[in-house]
Amino acid sequence: MGKAHDASLRLGIAGLGTVGAGVVKIIQEHAEILAKRCGRAIEITAVSARDVSKDRGVDVSGYDWVDDPVALAERDDVDVVVELIGGSEGAAKDLVEKALAGGKSVVTANKALLAHHGYALAKLAEDHGISLAYEAAVAGGIPIIKAMREGFAGNDVFAVYGILNGTCNYMLTAMRETGRDFDVILKEAQEAGYAEADPTFDIDGIDAGHKLALLAAIAFGTRPDFESLQIEGIRKITAEDIAHAEELGYRIKLLGIAKRLNAQVMQVLEPCLVPLDNPIAGVEDVFNAVYVDCDSADTAMLTGRGAGEGPTASAVMADVVDLARGAKIPTFGIPADDLAVPEWMDVNDTVSAYYLRLQVLDKPGVLADISAILRDRGVSIEAVIQRCRDPHKPVPLVITTHQVRHGDIQAVCAAFCKLECVVDEPCLMRIEAL
Ligand code: HSE
Repeated sequence: MGKAHDASLRLGIAGLGTVGAGVVKIIQEHAEILAKRCGRAIEITAVSARDVSKDRGVDVSGYDWVDDPVALAERDDVDVVVELIGGSEGAAKDLVEKALAGGKSVVTANKALLAHHGYALAKLAEDHGISLAYEAAVAGGIPIIKAMREGFAGNDVFAVYGILNGTCNYMLTAMRETGRDFDVILKEAQEAGYAEADPTFDIDGIDAGHKLALLAAIAFGTRPDFESLQIEGIRKITAEDIAHAEELGYRIKLLGIAKRLNAQVMQVLEPCLVPLDNPIAGVEDVFNAVYVDCDSADTAMLTGRGAGEGPTASAVMADVVDLARGAKIPTFGIPADDLAVPEWMDVNDTVSAYYLRLQVLDKPGVLADISAILRDRGVSIEAVIQRCRDPHKPVPLVITTHQVRHGDIQAVCAAFCKLECVVDEPCLMRIEAL
């Protein structure tokens, strides 16, 4: 930046949606304390958004308005670009690349951009001796990037587990509390503004997958690799599954799991059963949580609000304050050139206990046929629940297994599908002991 430390840090903000407006608000309302904490003032010099006339609940008339956000990268009166446009391509990527290449540090909330291009962008930042900061990209108000890169820096991390999508967690909680099914709860969540009109990114696990890819990179010193991530969302879960899980002593959570297993790294994002007595089971509604398992600190869980104006703007400001103080931490915790390209574990080779729900005809011999398939493939049953409600209708048959290879339990499910007595696709979920 080539500026004296006591000069103000001048921001150019691209994107004045909920988060952008929240950042402006914090800078305006907390100017004095921010200046004390940073040893210099934080100043906004220019902003850019789609609609100049929109009422955002904050006064932006004192800042230069720029129509093309990418132009912020070239302004002499901008030290740091704050990118809040979103999306892995297009204007957000152009702006971040141009800012970094021009020697301006970047603060972003853009998980998609970093999950897809994190390594290249980290390298670009490093080559120019500047920072690419993204606390707001993962779990909103929870300072998890700081915790992972700094707080746990003295540890060997074994595993990271995360509830990383508030919409899904809210829906699973509502399904459990009301006993209503996915479609009904989704409609209600959309009407209440908790779920987007197009909820795909959230409910199909893509948003949480982006965040998990970033946490895995920091945990294991690897290049973020969204493409290698096995992702499944929450569409298949029924209120009945949630009730069965509770009866068995578990809660269903959309869980991001990144684990180092010998020389390989496992990276999956899928609905899992977690033990009711693990603190992560108690993280409900829109809350996010990240549970870290490491050598010296042992286990730790951070929880808080993962989205919304205040929490996400708070995370953006954490990065702005870091930059104002002159902190410079490698994007993924180690120099970009040292980030490994790991051997990702094939999900079929992962081993776990499983929850399996079948819809079966309620007639003699069904349980025998099903247990024969499990026996023939060496899968050990841990528990079975079957309750007849109507002898003329299919009934749910719930089985939990002992540890089994994912590929083997998939083969079991394929064999179940061929049975005449199995009337629907089996629902299979990992039981994650943590
Ligand atoms: N839509 C996300 C959620 C927040 O529901 O948690 C932004 O990543």
